[in-house]
Amino acid sequence: MSVDLTTTYLGLKLAHPIVPSASPITGKLDVLERLQDAGAPAVVLPSLFEEQITHDEEEMQRLAEFAADSFAEATFGYFPEMQDYNTGPSSYLKLVEGAKTTLDIPVIASLNGSSVAGWIDYAKRIQNAGADALELNVYYVPANPQESGAEVEERYLDLVSACRESITIPMAVKIGPYFSSVINMVNRIVAAGANGVVLFNRYLMPDIDLDTLEITPALKLSDPSELRLPLRWIALIRGKVPTSIALTSGVHAATDAIKAVLAGADAAMTTSALLRHGPEYLTTIIEGFRAWLEENEYTSVEQAKGSLSEEAAPNPEAFSRANYMKALVSYTGTPI
Ligand SMILES: Cc1cc2nc3c(=O)[nH]c(=O)nc-3n(C[C@H](O)[C@H](O)[C@H](O)COP(=O)(O)O)c2cc1C
Repeated sequence: MSVDLTTTYLGLKLAHPIVPSASPITGKLDVLERLQDAGAPAVVLPSLFEEQITHDEEEMQRLAEFAADSFAEATFGYFPEMQDYNTGPSSYLKLVEGAKTTLDIPVIASLNGSSVAGWIDYAKRIQNAGADALELNVYYVPANPQESGAEVEERYLDLVSACRESITIPMAVKIGPYFSSVINMVNRIVAAGANGVVLFNRYLMPDIDLDTLEITPALKLSDPSELRLPLRWIALIRGKVPTSIALTSGVHAATDAIKAVLAGADAAMTTSALLRHGPEYLTTIIEGFRAWLEENEYTSVEQAKGSLSEEAAPNPEAFSRANYMKALVSYTGTPI
């Protein structure tokens, strides 16, 4: 019996839910082709960062001022338009265009930032470059003691609304887990115009190097235990907020992707596993995913999707405080 693996994410019909998420592995056309050949149903390109765009514009400003000083005839129109300036952002637009020309699968571009400002114009440019959808990664570290949680949330919502106003393609918003009420936040992000959410951003925790006494960025690839955090929240959100949901963090094997779908994810995204094992490893995950569904007599991904969400689970209390108490009490390790 063959199982129908198709899923709908952001209104895009995908061959199956296992999608390579944003990272350097999706940043080169030849590797994107390898991912497609390995069975990717869509790809999320690496992010274009607010800082790259802002830096680009500042650089242009400096050049324009320099030119105005140097050439009496320089006028506002003397220099080429910002969008023609060939640095990071314009290379990014070329990547989007190239991916669209080279691939047959949907291409999801990614913008990454935290403040409402001119850089958001790139959402429109990315749309014009042909992206099928946009992932807006709001990566914000609230370090100002004067800024309240409500203000931080408004910042997110303003960004989502600003982006929504400038594009018509589907938009997903990638966020971290650090909200007092994650489900309420997802609900408001959707009300502000998102078609989906990507849960969760991994915040990269800096480390301290004791030899040099320096702060080090310490980028570590994920491990499968990180799946549990998005798994729980997706299980709680599915059915309560009408939106597409992608899980990111901790999908290393077919079984992780199965869990994501059972919890209620429309897409199970993976990066660290592909960075570790190479693009072709995607086929192993997809084949294992198919085999598990077949062995367990599912006829489709849709049938499995959300069947263990809080709404549908036979024991919904597993996601709540009751389970926390049970888990603590059931610990059987030997006390030290
Ligand atoms: C080296 C590296 C680069 C990444 N670059 C981006 C990026 O540009 N934009 C983004 O939204 N996420 C980025 N991510 C995060 C991944 O898309 C993904 O959300 C995260 O790694 C968790 O998934 P995983 O457990 O499958 O690795 C990056 C991750 C890694 C490891």
